[in-house]
Amino acid sequence: MNLGALIRQTERRLRAARLHYGHGTDNPRDEAAFLVLRGLGLPFDADLGRAADPAKVEALVEARIKKRIPAAYLLHEAWLAGLRFRIDRRVIVPRSHIAQLLAERLHPWLRRSPHRILDLCTGSGCLAILAARAFPRAEVHASDLSAAALAVARRNVNEYGMRKRIRLIRSDLFAALRGMRYDLIVSNPPYVASSEMRRLPAEYRYEPGLALAAGKDGLEVVRRLLADAPAHLFPSGRLVCEVGGGRKNVERAFPAMPFLWPKDEVFIAGRASMAAVSRMPSRRRSARG
Ligand SMILES: C[S@@+](CC[C@H](N)C(=O)[O-])C[C@H]1O[C@@H](n2cnc3c(N)ncnc32)[C@H](O)[C@@H]1O
Repeated sequence: MNLGALIRQTERRLRAARLHYGHGTDNPRDEAAFLVLRGLGLPFDADLGRAADPAKVEALVEARIKKRIPAAYLLHEAWLAGLRFRIDRRVIVPRSHIAQLLAERLHPWLRRSPHRILDLCTGSGCLAILAARAFPRAEVHASDLSAAALAVARRNVNEYGMRKRIRLIRSDLFAALRGMRYDLIVSNPPYVASSEMRRLPAEYRYEPGLALAAGKDGLEVVRRLLADAPAHLFPSGRLVCEVGGGRKNVERAFPAMPFLWPKDEVFIAGRASMAAVSRMPSRRRSARG
């Protein structure tokens, strides 16, 4: 059998199994190509006419179908904005929308290049590494509550030769960052509401609950982040934060906040507006909510 035929056959099996996609690919064709090519240790542009042994990827395909394990965990790698990150179940599969914004150097959303950047809730370290590449002169801090996640981030930081540029810090949001200020804070925090957590497809159950769950309305972490970020931003500093499908929820919870939405899943807030809103009496803050 040749490689192209093996990918097509795998695609048919994945399609028939009615899997959930969203951990790096969004359809059975791309998922099959990812599993087969990377399972065989081949690049994405491999010659599809070359011979391929189905037995070599059978265990991977079976685990994807029968156990619903995301392909990225089976292969121990995920690709984001063209970069490969080594991952395992200590971190979520990288897929943040902030990656594309960083690849575009947050143009036109920043006035000038940031010198100090924080990636809060760094997980595998993917956004910290993308930020360090986008802004080569910046010093980057990357923090997470999970020591296990930070071990994965350390491996990726080392792999990209960024040990000197990215400092990894264990911290419950800003707790261990007292006195530190940044020009830019990026964050893809947990934002899944409890009711949604119960309904997630099986694939998500392989990811750490700490990385997804964010209380009754999914805003538990975002609320703390918005309250504490101003103290950690320079006057013209900005927070770039992912909230998934929670845009309406965020706008309802913070009606006075002038958010920018470069994508439906990501808002940008300036320090000055965040600080002004958090100084307002809470009744006025939610007056329109
Ligand atoms: C959705 S994942 C994002 C990981 C990575 N930034 C990405 O985009 O792939 C959220 C991360 O937040 C971390 N986390 C959860 N609660 C936290 C807290 N209170 N303080 C710091 N990090 C936290 C989790 O350990 C997890 O790694």
